[in-house]
Amino acid sequence: MNICVVGTGYVGLITGVCFADQGMNVTCADKNHDTISKLKNGETPIYEPGLETLIQKNCLSHRLRFTSSTADAVENASAVFLTVGTPA
Ligand SMILES: NC(=O)c1ccc[n+]([C@@H]2O[C@H](COP(=O)([O-])OP(=O)(O)OC[C@H]3O[C@@H](n4cnc5c(N)ncnc54)[C@H](O)[C@@H]3O)[C@@H](O)[C@H]2O)c1
Repeated sequence: MNICVVGTGYVGLITGVCFADQGMNVTCADKNHDTISKLKNGETPIYEPGLETLIQKNCLSHRLRFTSSTADAVENASAVFLTVGTPA
């Protein structure tokens, strides 16, 4: 199943990585280019024990990818999770 997660903060990144580790094909999108660059390099912008290992493992398995284009991320997705911040 193809899943898209929009917003790779505390909620979205954990959600996307865990779905990928369960065998789903996951594309995570974020408008913050620095965040996406870090994630593409296998680094995590947030602290969560074990997360970096899971990111690297699932990227290598091609089940997890990161993009700054939401349009690309939602294409072919069966489910889209919106995990962006709440407006003030
Ligand atoms: N963190 C928690 O414990 C928690 C608990 C309950 C509910 N929530 C809710 O979950 C949501 C996400 O929370 P969080 O803590 O992960 O926030 P966060 O600020 O850590 O992450 C939000 C991410 O969304 C990205 N983003 C914002 N607008 C975007 C857009 N238009 N397109 C793409 N990316 C976009 C930001 O760049 C950021 O990386 C919020 O609505 C919050 O209220 C969070």
